[in-house]
Amino acid sequence: MPESAPIDPTATDAWKALDGIASGFTPDLSGWFAAEGDRAERYTFQAADLTVDLSKNLLTDEILAHLLQLAEDAGVADRYRAMIAGEHINVTENRAVLHTALRRPASGGATTELEPPAGFTVDGADIDAEVHATLEKVYAFADRVRSGEWTGVTGKRIETVVNIGIGGSDLGPVMVYEALKPYVQPGLECRFVSNIDPSDIYEKTAGLDPETTLFIVASKTFGTLETLTNARLAREWLWEQLEASGAIAAGDDDARTSAVAKHFVAVSTALDKVAAFGIDPENAFGFWDWVGGRYSVDSAIGTSVAIAIGPDGFREFLSGFHALDEHMRTTPLERNVPVLMGLLNVWYSNFLGAQSHAVLPYAHYLHRFPAYLQQLTMESNGKSVRWDGSPVTTDTGEIFWGEPGTNGQHAFYQLIHQGTRLIPADFIAVADPAHPLKDATGDGKAVQPGADVHALFLANFFAQTKALAFGKTADEVRAEGTAESVVPARVFSGNRPTTSILAPSLTPGVLGQLIALYEHIVFTEGTIWGIDSFDQWGVELGKQLALEIAPAVDGDAAALESQDSSTKSLIAKYLELRSR
Ligand code: F6P
Repeated sequence: MPESAPIDPTATDAWKALDGIASGFTPDLSGWFAAEGDRAERYTFQAADLTVDLSKNLLTDEILAHLLQLAEDAGVADRYRAMIAGEHINVTENRAVLHTALRRPASGGATTELEPPAGFTVDGADIDAEVHATLEKVYAFADRVRSGEWTGVTGKRIETVVNIGIGGSDLGPVMVYEALKPYVQPGLECRFVSNIDPSDIYEKTAGLDPETTLFIVASKTFGTLETLTNARLAREWLWEQLEASGAIAAGDDDARTSAVAKHFVAVSTALDKVAAFGIDPENAFGFWDWVGGRYSVDSAIGTSVAIAIGPDGFREFLSGFHALDEHMRTTPLERNVPVLMGLLNVWYSNFLGAQSHAVLPYAHYLHRFPAYLQQLTMESNGKSVRWDGSPVTTDTGEIFWGEPGTNGQHAFYQLIHQGTRLIPADFIAVADPAHPLKDATGDGKAVQPGADVHALFLANFFAQTKALAFGKTADEVRAEGTAESVVPARVFSGNRPTTSILAPSLTPGVLGQLIALYEHIVFTEGTIWGIDSFDQWGVELGKQLALEIAPAVDGDAAALESQDSSTKSLIAKYLELRSR
């Protein structure tokens, strides 16, 4: 348990000062840039390979000073050190929070006496030794699959890996797999089944050859309804398909057991439940209760990714996380990028009324990144009580959302540019494209023959933050010859805050850095609000009720009768509509 109760941030002088500034606040990004020749330079920071420009935020040195004081008052740096040292800062589950230990180099990577030394123990366990032993097991397995040494039951090499998991056991692996597609070994494909809607597994197994398919059942608890149901469906599918083609004898239990042994592996903290499912514990990769599901893609939960991109790629991925962990641990608050970004989020949501936060990757391979961040940020910080059980004293959490640019430009950017809501947005781009294509012919007008399409793409990245910051005045609109009646509709107010994140290219290392950046943003905000960002009790009630309601939905009249009137009539309508 953290030694101290959370502070009430709203009672601090820093908060009161920010409140004072916020009332009647009139941001003036155009004026600020005109007056401060060094604004871009002053507010641009480096975190490992990430260049982060905060200058187009609604930020002044005075606001920043108060925000930094708030971080001091809340003890962000001390609590981070407590976290990486294994203190039980997940108080409601009485657990350590050690995802940072998943990516510490084997040597421990200790660079100062503040970092836990290699071989540090938490709750009596040698964390580094356990992490690296598991990683080596994952890597050895990945190598066997990639080389073809690991085969299916009929001796064929694996061509498709199907990860079955949900939440943190799905969103991380699928996001990373999609982001690192150019690094995937040719001849290997990963698919991801998460939803208990049977359409998901139906579609994901469609067209697969069972003899070359490997299922990874990924579940921290190995008790999640969706995952275990899909795992059973996958096992049935495997047996049916192998028996139908004559690859194994129909109804032969030994053959079925052998098929499961060669086509199913598991990742879980509950290895006893894995064995009960019929998966050989030899083919199971463990992790620990001190890794939250949404913080687990860098554990064995990333086995599908390790197979796809190989152990070296996965090592680079982990070293990217570690670089950001080191940045978070060693960089003074005033240059600490995750802390600064977390503080800006607090500024926008608690003082300027923002309710949501857009994440807009200008790197199409990051198309699942916003969805990944939704779990990371909203499951972590969507809380109404603090870690001592008292009610929060201010709003917590933001609604994270987004889509890749430029697609979003043609969908929802209108609202960001001209709507009535304040929507801070993170723009993320990489300099080197994975595929440097040229437009050979151009369009004969704006696009020159031979134009670099990635440059065209990134012109949009730069243009959008510029438009959002500086807008377009009525006079500028008029100067274009616009009819007076249409002028108001074509004015852009500007002063719409953005953060620009630029990386050299979307390597495994850079992706690890990006994920860790947001993990530490979440941590910073959670610490200021005084909440436990590592539990997720809010998902439990729905799970419990679904199991209670299931008999009614399956036609049990007594179970139907016991429902509230709305639920009862909805289920009755469903039963009427459903043709069996
Ligand atoms: O829905 C809540 C949750 O517990 C997430 O936090 C977690 O990532 C997901 O379910 C899946 O859980 P598991 O990995 O135990 O199957």
